[in-house]
Amino acid sequence: MRVLGIESSCDETGVAVYDTAAGLLAHRVYSQIELHQDYGGVVPELASRDHVRKLLPLLRETLTAAGLGVRDLDGVAYTSGPGLVGALLVGAATARALAWSLDLPAIGVHHMEGHLLAPLLEPDAPQPPFVALLVSGGHTQLIAVRGIGEYELIGDTLDDAAGEAFDKTAKMLGLPYPGGPELARLAESGTPGRFRFARPMCDRPGLDFSFSGLKTQVLLAWEKSDRSDQTRADIARGFEQAVTETLATKCRRALAETGMRALVVAGGVGANLRLRAALHTAAVNDGFNVAFPRPEFCTDNGAMIAFAGALRLAAGQRQDTSIAVRPRWPLEELLATTPAEPLTLR
Ligand code: KG4
Ligand code: ZN
Repeated sequence: MRVLGIESSCDETGVAVYDTAAGLLAHRVYSQIELHQDYGGVVPELASRDHVRKLLPLLRETLTAAGLGVRDLDGVAYTSGPGLVGALLVGAATARALAWSLDLPAIGVHHMEGHLLAPLLEPDAPQPPFVALLVSGGHTQLIAVRGIGEYELIGDTLDDAAGEAFDKTAKMLGLPYPGGPELARLAESGTPGRFRFARPMCDRPGLDFSFSGLKTQVLLAWEKSDRSDQTRADIARGFEQAVTETLATKCRRALAETGMRALVVAGGVGANLRLRAALHTAAVNDGFNVAFPRPEFCTDNGAMIAFAGALRLAAGQRQDTSIAVRPRWPLEELLATTPAEPLTLR
């Protein structure tokens, strides 16, 4: 079954074709970073308009790369939430129109389920049960995955998401949007240990996170400092160290509490090299498996949507033809899915 996937929930337009027998056939991502850079963050109206401009050319480009025409498709999947309502509607309307005109089944995919399943696009990926750490611009969650679609939220952030903390801290330090990768780059030249910030909520039991206090600590340290370039890098390093160690501590705790032996990491912050290194070390020390998507599948992309949609369509799930999106949508509301046919994960 060949499924077209469309992602348009925020500031990336993503398109991909996933074949349940042959794996990923092609994928393309167009990032709106330059468009939003002057504003220091995503401007929803500009994001929607740019999706309108880019989606159809990207769709043609992806199909050409896969060597397919629209008539070779067997289904269409699109991100139907959570995300920016206007941006979501562009993808949903396009996907629905295409499916209706070709008489194909279509399905709205939960964006975070897409992220969560992205590590399974890689060779030798773990199968459920596993613990998933979802770390993006809007989420910091630990999820016990007992099967595809069987998700239990076991840890969540009480305030800022990890990506949001990276972005806000980067902005405070005068770095351009998008802050996360910029801050990570700057931290490379920072001196480890010069600034030591708190590891929030690690000193008490539980799997929840809180990052807003850390941001304030960084602000105070920066305001009191000599504000030199080296100090900026040292603070970035201290912040990154505090966030990644906190995430690693909670992941180890989640594995111990659930008794699960595998961890998958997903979402934009999953591209962070120091986080990946910290989790690799923990995996060796504690004896669990850890899996990451390749960096391009950590941030928003169409491949994860095509893949998650293909699993659900292959399992026989269908939706009516209405163009409905859900800007807010708890992941736990998803239905359990048992794939009807075995899927080749490539
Ligand atoms: O998953 P994603 O692309 O979009 C959302 O669904 O939110 O995640 C974007 C987030 C942003 O906050 C961005 O700053 C962060 O992921 N991010 C990073 C890195 N790359 C992206 N944070 C830290 N280090 C990185 N290398
Ligand atoms: Zn995302």
